Formats: sequence, C-alpha cells, structure tokens
Amino acid sequence: MSKVDNYRLTLGDKEVIPILQGGMGVDISTTELALKIAELGGIGHISDAMSPYLSDRKFKTRLQSDKQKFFKEFANSLDKSTVKWEYDNTYEGTLNHIRDTMEKKSGPGLVFVNTMEKLQMGNPKVTLKARLDAQLDGGIDGITLSAGLHKGSFSLIEDHPRFRDAQLGIIVSSARALKIFLRGANRVNRKPDYVIVEGPLAGGHLGFGIDDWQKYDLKVITQEVIQFLKDQDLDIPVIPAGGVFTGTDAADYLAAGAGGVQVATRFTIAQECGYPDHVKQILLNSEEEDIEINLSSPTGYPMRMLKSSPSLSSNIRPNCEALGYLLDQDGGCAYHQAWDESPVGADGKKEAVSSKMCICYHFMKYSCYTCGHNAYRLKETTVKRDNGLYYIPTAEDIFNDYRYSSDHSIYLPKVSDEDAALDAASA
Ligand SMILES: Cc1cc2nc3c(=O)[nH]c(=O)nc-3n(C[C@H](O)[C@H](O)[C@H](O)COP(=O)(O)O)c2cc1C
Repeated sequence: MSKVDNYRLTLGDKEVIPILQGGMGVDISTTELALKIAELGGIGHISDAMSPYLSDRKFKTRLQSDKQKFFKEFANSLDKSTVKWEYDNTYEGTLNHIRDTMEKKSGPGLVFVNTMEKLQMGNPKVTLKARLDAQLDGGIDGITLSAGLHKGSFSLIEDHPRFRDAQLGIIVSSARALKIFLRGANRVNRKPDYVIVEGPLAGGHLGFGIDDWQKYDLKVITQEVIQFLKDQDLDIPVIPAGGVFTGTDAADYLAAGAGGVQVATRFTIAQECGYPDHVKQILLNSEEEDIEINLSSPTGYPMRMLKSSPSLSSNIRPNCEALGYLLDQDGGCAYHQAWDESPVGADGKKEAVSSKMCICYHFMKYSCYTCGHNAYRLKETTVKRDNGLYYIPTAEDIFNDYRYSSDHSIYLPKVSDEDAALDAASA
C-alpha cells in the first residue's frame, strides 16, 4: 500500500516527513500552523508578506503607523515614487515575526519562510535584502524564494554567516525558470537545497497564463524538472505542489521520484489557519464553478480565488503611505492606477474597482479568498455538524491524513467530545 509515511525527505542533516505546508500570505499560514507541522515532523511555512503590519498587530510596534505619518503629505498625490519601505523598518518587522516563531518551535520538523520577490515595497533590492537578512538572523530553518525568478537573491546574502547552512530553495513553474535562477546561483557557487515545482492547480498567484493554464500538467512539469536536474548532474530534491489533495496523490509523486510534496489548500480550513471561521465555512461550501482565475492582483500574475471574494468589488482608497508593499521601484501599483481612473458615482463615492484589487488591504482583512483548484473538494475532508456548519479539523488531522492514508481514502477528523456535546445541546 503506497502511503507518504513510507518515505522520508533528507535536507542537510535533517530527515523529515516529506510533507511541506506551503506559505500562504499574509498571515493565512500562521506561526501556529507552521509550528504544528514542524512538531509533527514535516515542514511548515510562514510567509514574509507584510511582516511590519504583522509586527504592529502582534508585538505593538508602530512600523506602519510611523511610515504613514512620515509620508502623510503624499496621501493626495498620484506620485508615490518617494513612498518606500527602508532597510531598518523592514528588517525589524521581519525579525520580530521570525524570532517569535522560531523561539516557540519544538519537535523534529522544520519551519521555513516563503519570500516573495514581487513584494517590492517601493524599494525592491533593499527590502528583499532586509527580509532575507532578518530571516537568517532570526534563526529560520529555511527560505523558499517565490513569486519571481530571483536571479540576484542569493548574491544579496552571500556574505551572511548562515548562507551555506540554512536550507534555501525556490518555487518555479518550469525547468526554464529554474535554469534562469541557477545561472544567478552559480555566480555565488550556491546550489538550492530543494526545488518546489508549482503547477496550474495551486492557490495564490500562478506562473501560467490565464488562458493557457489548462494545458499544463504538474506530473509532466515535475518529470521535466527531475530530468533537467539529472542532466545537469544535480542531486536536488524536487517537490511538486498544486492539486495534491489526498495522501495517495502525494505517495504517487513520491513513488515517481519526487522528494516531497507541498500542499496548502487542505490546510486553509485548519483550526490553526489564519482565515476567519466564516471564510473556512465559505470555502467548505464552495462548488467548482465558484472558483475562478482572474487578473485582479496588481502583481500582474493570474490568481485563483472564490468569485465571491469581497476584494473583487471594493472601492477602498489606496493607503500606500502606510501599506505600499506592492509599489514598484518607481512608486507604481496597478490598483492605485485603476482606483484613480474609476469614476465617482452619484453618491459622490468612487465606484467599485473590479479590474484590480488593493492586495495589501484585502490580504490584511482576509477578504480575498484565494484557494487552490480543489477547494470545492474540501467538504470531502470533514464532517457536517447538526448545526449545519462543517467541523473545522486540526492541522494534525489533516497532516496525519496526508501521512497515513492510502487508496485515495481521506480520514475524516474525529469531532471532539466538547463539540459533539455542543451539537447535542443545540439539537
Ligand atoms: C490561501 C493560499 C495562499 C497562498 N499564498 C501564497 C503566497 O503568499 N506565496 C506563495 O508563494 N504561494 C502561495 N500559495 C501557494 C501555496 O504555497 C502552495 O504552493 C499551493 O497552493 C499548493 O497547492 P494546493 O493548494 O493545491 O495544495 C498560496 C496558496 C493558498 C491556498
């Protein structure tokens, strides 16, 4: 019987269960979620998106509010070219988040951080370096580079004392993208320790076109990347991601030569996941036709989400002076531009901007319901309670299902005695 527990992934001197819980920004993949996965022996990811915001929320710093005050005179100006995050405030926010997570870590697994190049913060190179430095200084076990080709990312940290001992990997959607990344890595004589291959069924941003994603198949791309690395004489674990829904899906990839699998959508309904409970219920009630890929993200990448996401009909005023995580180095953001061009209605207010969303605001508020293609199958993974709501499983329920299940069966979570008693009382 093929199951994930028959396999192990070796990274450096660590051997882990080959299940990586993918990074989900902003705080959808919370510290609590990643820590639980590490405690169970897998690899959990937190996200480095908007860490200064998280630091203000969790540790009572004033990084965002001080930035807003500093740039307040630009609030009514279209020109945001001087509105930027700097090294120090980015470093501080990131370090607070990473340190807090790593100080609480226990168990045999690892905690990695997902680091997006597209998060340019008005100051791309400086803030990417600040984030990477803080992640390494904060003791993170590994860094997964994402949302970009990261041609120069390794060279930003080549002098860091942990550059050769931390686990460093990248997410790509093709062997071609990996080839481009490796050119930059070769310049500093550092190979990645793992390569995640993300296919077209994943959640979040996609590395495929909005009209051609159906033509691609994760199994095929994974084999292309495995073959490419073999041809280069490189022994680097390849980790497919996107649509791996059952333990058997995962075991099939491992049997075909993958080093591990990365999964995320199954964990969006975990108790430890950052999505609010009402969003978890919306995801659990979704059908296939409720999910779409659109171009509302100002990054320019297509993104998969529920059509009912409030982010798709919002007229929120851009607040780049405080947020500004997406501003490019010239102070540009596609949402800012779309909002500016949106007409004012009879009520004197801007009409809703449907072509783009303010990704900073809506990720902060969990009002963009991004999810993988298989989100409509989440209802198969838990039980509906007498009160009409789905039972919210623990991360451990989901992890153990991936780890131990076989024959495409899904182990349903056991409803806690406390919840069963509540159901009985409300019946
Ligand atoms: C809610 C959600 C948010 C995500 N956010 C990010 C992100 O911030 N950065 C990133 O590189 N990938 C992100 N992803 C992609 C996941 O890390 C993962 O690779 C992918 O979703 C795996 O496919 P699955 O969801 O079908 O299991 C996100 C996925 C989901 C479901």
